[in-house]
Amino acid sequence: MVSHAARAAAGIKKFARTLQGELKAAMSEGGAPHAIKVCNEKTAGIASDISAETGYNLGRVSLKNRNPDQAASGWNQTVLEEFEARLANGEPIDKLVFKTIVTQEDGSQEFRMMKAIPTGKVCLNCHGSEIKDEVTMKLDELYPEDNARGFKEGDIRGAFVVTKTL
Ligand code: HEC
Repeated sequence: MVSHAARAAAGIKKFARTLQGELKAAMSEGGAPHAIKVCNEKTAGIASDISAETGYNLGRVSLKNRNPDQAASGWNQTVLEEFEARLANGEPIDKLVFKTIVTQEDGSQEFRMMKAIPTGKVCLNCHGSEIKDEVTMKLDELYPEDNARGFKEGDIRGAFVVTKTL
């Protein structure tokens, strides 16, 4: 039998690949200012499509989030803080994975998984510390409370979060 972790990992892979594909296409079509629109308008739909298809709820969170709905909180904030500590201790970023099954207050069980999202070079166009003026203007307009700037290559940009009530 395929485990929850394996199915959740496959869901994360698909989500990550789809987002990267959309980003790449949008960047080559109209550069970062155009790609912002795609990140802004398409991400939620992609997450809910893959969640519906796989039966696992997929999303993204960050300690320094752009979208206010994606602020890490509660258990996933704790896990992201642990990822930061593990990275600082020399653990490779692609090994930063967390998974558990918890029993909730109503007695039901929930599967939970997180995987760190590394900051790559292309990400710096919109999440780095030297963002072009036209990009900054668009970001300020869409995300007045943006915290997701000032990242460097190799930083933890955030994490994928997967949950499923068992
Ligand atoms: C063209 C600009 C742009 C680029 C390039 C870009 N992002 Fe983003 N990113 C955004 C926008 C806009 C959002 C907010 C999307 C939303 O509203 O859900 C976002 C949100 C995120 C989030 C969700 C957490 C949050 O802060 O709200 C993560 C994680 C993330 N980006 C990672 C990356 C990674 C990793 C890369 C490089 C592979 C990347 N981004 C490249 C514009 C960009």
